[in-house]
Amino acid sequence: MTQHSIVKITSSNDDLLERALSLFTKVLGAGLYTKAALKQIADAEDSLVTGCLEGAELAGAAMAGRLKSAGVSFYSPFGKDAIELLNGNIIGVLQNSAVEESHRGKGVGTALLSNRISWLTQTGCDYAVGLTWLHGKTTQSDHLYKSAGFQKVGPNVLEFFKSLSQRTGMHCPYCGFPCTCSAAMYAKKLNAKKGARDAK
Ligand SMILES: CC(C)(COP(=O)(O)OP(=O)(O)OC[C@H]1O[C@@H](n2cnc3c(N)ncnc32)[C@H](O)[C@@H]1OP(=O)(O)O)[C@@H](O)C(=O)NCCC(=O)NCCS
Repeated sequence: MTQHSIVKITSSNDDLLERALSLFTKVLGAGLYTKAALKQIADAEDSLVTGCLEGAELAGAAMAGRLKSAGVSFYSPFGKDAIELLNGNIIGVLQNSAVEESHRGKGVGTALLSNRISWLTQTGCDYAVGLTWLHGKTTQSDHLYKSAGFQKVGPNVLEFFKSLSQRTGMHCPYCGFPCTCSAAMYAKKLNAKKGARDAK
């Protein structure tokens, strides 16, 4: 594994925020975020935008946040076990893992995952939950989750992102518009530090 440095991305570094937005757009699809929306997420206390630098180059970026109760129904296609898990625990959601093509398979995704798991643990989450986007075109995040000890929750869901894509105008870089890729759900129990929840 090459040496990487992990940085928290906020609006105080506009250039880095801009580069993260370009990376998300290129790897995850056009129309996913506006700059203003990403800025707000990056500066919020209950979410994290993190980047992985190789020298001065932004090799990867990813996001995480606390699941709000209104967000639980998004996961209902994954079934009863998924909903029970989400309703009964404090859930941290892993979102938008994006690594530059030339840097894939070299540990960047793993470094970003481990940084987000530490942050979710410190902020008192019981579980980390992530979706794998089953585009079948390049490296998918299922390898990443399995290798970090995540368990699959429920079945693969066909065309999971279709309505989101239609609602937001998000163009999938792998299948176009609307996105008809399937998704799988993964979860991992976290060992929250004593007192972390009280600190929030
Ligand atoms: C998915 C993604 C974030 C992973 O990042 P990465 O830097 O390539 O991942 P890593 O190099 O840390 O590898 C993670 C694991 O996957 C394995 N892996 C990597 N490429 C693989 C491949 N082509 N086939 C099988 N396993 C692979 C690695 O061996 C590693 O497992 P290990 O720790 O047991 O060795 C990145 O490839 C990417 O941006 N893909 C396109 C966008 C995408 O699908 N994002 C996820 C949105 S849900």
